[in-house]
Amino acid sequence: MSAASTSVKIGDNSQEMPVKSGTVGPSVIDISKLYAQTGMFTYDPGFTSTAACESKITYIDGDEGVLLYRGFPIEQLAEHGDFLETCYLLLYGELPTAAQKSDFDYRVTRHTMVHDQMQRFFQGFRRDAHPMAVMVAAVGALSAFYHDSTDITDAHQRMIASMRMIAKVPTLAAMAYKYHIGQPFVYPLNELDYTSNFLRMCFAVPAEDYKVNQVLSRALDRIFILHADHEQNASTSTVRLAGSSGANPFACIAAGIACLWGPAHGGANEAALKMLEEIGHVDNIPKFIAKAKDKNDPFRLMGFGHRVYKNYDPRAKIMQKTAHEVLAELGIKDDPLLDIAIELERIALHDEYFIEKKLYPNVDFYSGITLKAMGFPTEMFTVLFAVARTVGWIAQWKEMIEDPSQKIGRPRQLYTGATRREYTTTAQRR
Ligand code: SDX
Repeated sequence: MSAASTSVKIGDNSQEMPVKSGTVGPSVIDISKLYAQTGMFTYDPGFTSTAACESKITYIDGDEGVLLYRGFPIEQLAEHGDFLETCYLLLYGELPTAAQKSDFDYRVTRHTMVHDQMQRFFQGFRRDAHPMAVMVAAVGALSAFYHDSTDITDAHQRMIASMRMIAKVPTLAAMAYKYHIGQPFVYPLNELDYTSNFLRMCFAVPAEDYKVNQVLSRALDRIFILHADHEQNASTSTVRLAGSSGANPFACIAAGIACLWGPAHGGANEAALKMLEEIGHVDNIPKFIAKAKDKNDPFRLMGFGHRVYKNYDPRAKIMQKTAHEVLAELGIKDDPLLDIAIELERIALHDEYFIEKKLYPNVDFYSGITLKAMGFPTEMFTVLFAVARTVGWIAQWKEMIEDPSQKIGRPRQLYTGATRREYTTTAQRR
């Protein structure tokens, strides 16, 4: 990282601030001494111009629509690798050798079961509880069952906790789904690969044998790769901030799941499909485009726009291709929702409003169509996002914990409330 500096003029004073450059992407002005030197804070709600940390894990070039995991393009990882290979890459920084991959698969597979007493945990929920509510609770509760991997200062415990979460979150996700639909839980079957195991835990029933459709398993595995990590997005920043206090890793990941649930973030895949269903027919698209452009209407095109991508989200392109692949495999000739999505994208990308604001489909725009075709109900879409993003959250949390300069995150504020005033008794109040 090269060091330079820039001068910041505040009133009659100039302050020299260090400038740090990374390997690629925007340089940063190190303002960590700004308050000490000037008595002023910077102000950046939403962190549109703020780098909260240094990281080596994922890089996005929003203008070019580029996404790299540890330097490898997402298109190549999605095409040639599997999800556990991506997990290894995100955690350790290099693609695994055959021996490393086999050992990693074995270690993850050996942690897929959860403590059987967790089954009782689910019984406390109503059947119609949103599966994301169950996931926030169940993943947080893991810390009550695995005390032997909550000491974040112990590298071995950090690794065990990481393996446990990568392995157990799919099991808990499948249990949340089975509980939601009133079917018995299905235990993991370790002879299956990661994603096939997950599909079986979701869709197998005791009454008959279940055969994994390898095309669907490959498609879902690719969807997991696409969702695995994405720089300092809202849920990852939540995990980092929770982890900066020394909270145990299970609690940090539960905080990430809670944040991901929001419709502006991971909840957008569920919201995008509901939007396509609400549009109902391609003839209704102009009405919804007009709503999205109307400043007085809070409606937004779900699955469109992104804080960083001001070009096509590379994941959305792969998601669209995967949607066609899955629909073809399932013999779904013309899915009206896909027709609406493609026409909506076509119209929006030719509309001045979307062009001027650089609004393109994001990863959530096509995922719902694919997941619905696979048999997942809409309320499970964000759960699947959480299954994939668990490894990204863990890799980012691990990077933060292992950073010797790490300290608790504690932002300041611009205060515009009441200045000091004296207490009045009830009798004195008018
Ligand atoms: C994810 O950060 C990540 O990396 C997230 C993620 C990941 O992998 O972790 O990529 C996953 O969360 C993808 C995004 C999913 N969310 C949605 O699809 C919800 C719909 N999109 C929007 O809510 C919005 O685009 C955001 C939240 C995604 C980004 O919002 P920003 O960066 O804060 O942008 P903004 O709200 O300031 O919008 C800029 C302008 C505004 O107009 P003006 O006030 O400048 O006139 O664009 C408009 C917005 O009104 N706009 C939209 C729009 N998104 C932005 N108008 C209509 N429809 C939209 N979808």
